[in-house]
Amino acid sequence: MSATERLMADDAGIARAATLLRAGQVVAFPTETVYGLGADATDAAAVARIFAAKDRPQFNPLIVHVPDVSAAQALIELPQSGMMLAEAFWPGPLTMVAPMRGHQVADLVTAGLDTLGVRVPAHPVGVALLRAVGRPIAAPSANPSGRVSPTLANHVLEGLDNRISAVLDGGACPVGLESTIVGFDADMPVMLRPGGVTQEALEAVVGRIGIRQTGASISAPGQLASHYAPTARVRMDVVDDPVIGFGSVAGHVQLSETADLAEAAANLFMALRQADALVPVNGVITVAPIPDKELGVAINDRLRRAAAPR
Ligand code: TXA
Ligand code: MG
Repeated sequence: MSATERLMADDAGIARAATLLRAGQVVAFPTETVYGLGADATDAAAVARIFAAKDRPQFNPLIVHVPDVSAAQALIELPQSGMMLAEAFWPGPLTMVAPMRGHQVADLVTAGLDTLGVRVPAHPVGVALLRAVGRPIAAPSANPSGRVSPTLANHVLEGLDNRISAVLDGGACPVGLESTIVGFDADMPVMLRPGGVTQEALEAVVGRIGIRQTGASISAPGQLASHYAPTARVRMDVVDDPVIGFGSVAGHVQLSETADLAEAAANLFMALRQADALVPVNGVITVAPIPDKELGVAINDRLRRAAAPR
């Protein structure tokens, strides 16, 4: 693969990115959560290039991105509760996994499952690109498999330069961690991965939801325990001079001075990268306690996986 093109998020850049995607190339693009590594979901060879660029295990299914709710409903059969969630949270940081309608995407996207994960992102550049391509775009986070997710175009290039055709630079991703993934047990929503939409917000719309512990489930084979890993090891809940601080517990890198969980989420992956550069080889990235509520649940989930034995 030749040098990766860096495209500005103007009309010309978006048009170029769309042309590359329609030609079966892989292109990183901004969403409000993290940068995605996109490919035409209907083109098996293009989807295979995502796995190759990321060194991603093939059993891990991909989610597809579409520009609006009607395009999502054309791909999957959402139960009543899913329609309510779509109305409340799309476009936004929510992925819903539901039975596929027909056979509209390459087998590699679903890893042989008969369900498909779909998301309608809220980032104006990402949505403009999806509209320009006019096909569902499969996209995992744009990082080498098992590494920290990218929230800047530079992060994408740090991990994938010369391995992908282009990156469309839309600046910093405002949410900063991945979408919440919801599946269904009949009509009952089940949270498969905590993320940018909190459990509290989901329950305000549909009432009580189920929680499937990550790491154990076969219906979310991508929920590997050791994920989001920086190079150094990670230890959580450290109050004594941690590398990464939160609120009144000061660190060398601060997630949020004011203990604002949304700000902390937006800074999390950047903080892990900075901390990685600060601690010595074989060192430990210590992290201040983060309250386990609202967006703190997703932050702690990512930290726990970064801290998991590898
Ligand atoms: O915010 C996000 O969700 C970002 C942006 C780029 O959209 N994408 C993302 O993709 O985080 P990825 O591949 O890193 O995580 C998607 C997760 C994987 O763990 C995968 O196993 C799970 O979704 N998944 C995909 N399809 C599924 C399915 N049919 N059933 C269960 N889990 C599924
Ligand atoms: Mg990922």
